[in-house]
Amino acid sequence: MRILVTGGTGFIGSHTCVALLEAGHSVIIVDNLSNSKREVVSYIEQITGQTVLFYELDVTDAVAVEAIFVKHDIDGVVHFAGLKAVGESVEKPLIYYKNNLLSTMVVAEACIKYGVERFVFSSSATVYGNNLVPFEESMPLLPTTNPYGETKAMNERILTDIVKANPNLAVSLLRYFNPVGAHESCLIGEVPNGIPNNLMPYMTKVAKGEFAQLRVFGDDYPTVDGTGVRDYIHVVDLAEGHVAALEKLTAGVHVYNLGTGCGTSVLELVKAFEEANAIQVPYEIVARRPGDIASCYADSTKAKKELGWVAKRDIVAMCRDSWKFEKEYID
Ligand code: WQD
Repeated sequence: MRILVTGGTGFIGSHTCVALLEAGHSVIIVDNLSNSKREVVSYIEQITGQTVLFYELDVTDAVAVEAIFVKHDIDGVVHFAGLKAVGESVEKPLIYYKNNLLSTMVVAEACIKYGVERFVFSSSATVYGNNLVPFEESMPLLPTTNPYGETKAMNERILTDIVKANPNLAVSLLRYFNPVGAHESCLIGEVPNGIPNNLMPYMTKVAKGEFAQLRVFGDDYPTVDGTGVRDYIHVVDLAEGHVAALEKLTAGVHVYNLGTGCGTSVLELVKAFEEANAIQVPYEIVARRPGDIASCYADSTKAKKELGWVAKRDIVAMCRDSWKFEKEYID
């Protein structure tokens, strides 16, 4: 199939493009490069040995997006493009609501107009809010702690209503947990702008000596050791989950958790990282980070049952690949 990947030069988007190409599909990437580099397109081509069409554009620009649908016979869309910094969304809610909602509506509108019936949406585990873990797809969504999470929940509702009005559409809402790691080539991986917000990219920079120590945000949560518990998933597993969701799509709306089903605390991840890479990660316990929840991990049995997908890479592989990328990636 010819797949339009919005945000395809981003962390998860680029790995998904590789997985799509390796599965025999062709890929058209649109991205405004606000949080990624154009070189990623050539890295994807280098990894797969295949050419990729790339258009620099903002997917809130309906005219620019429509031109892509006019020019190319698209079979499906994987929609990643969006702003994703939780903290930033609290400071700039209007930018997040406008960008993340409008981009989805523009792309969905073009799909309907040009008869593109397959749509995979990049959602997030954040939509579960403070539900009880492990999170199941059938759970009612609870208010999240930030506008970023709200845009994901709203986009899910928008797409669900669009399918009600256009029953021939096939939409998959993929709820990600915590993506980490990198492609074995180290050509693509997580390249955060500025100081990383997320745990793994911050930890690799502490290991490298860029930062003196890791700040552990709170050790008084009701968890195994008091630190936050998350479901870390290798980004290549996540990418393969997108291909499975796309290829198994049928009419209607389908929701899947893409996680491992295992919860790992911050201190457990630090220990796993140190052991996997034979390196020290100095840390200090500091105050909780506003907006954090204690535990977040998936029940991913639905994806296994319906998509035949399971995460194959364990926490050791995630730690090894994250560290290898930190050492070998040439910015
Ligand atoms: C993980 C744990 C922190 C940094 C976010 C988004 C989520 C998704 C993934 C997009 C928490 C602790 C972190 C640090 C720390 N993104 N931590 N020191 O917040 O679970 O999820 O990224 O979909 O939507 O919310 O990820 O890596 O920031 O935090 O102690 O320097 O590590 O408190 O317990 P998070 P994270």
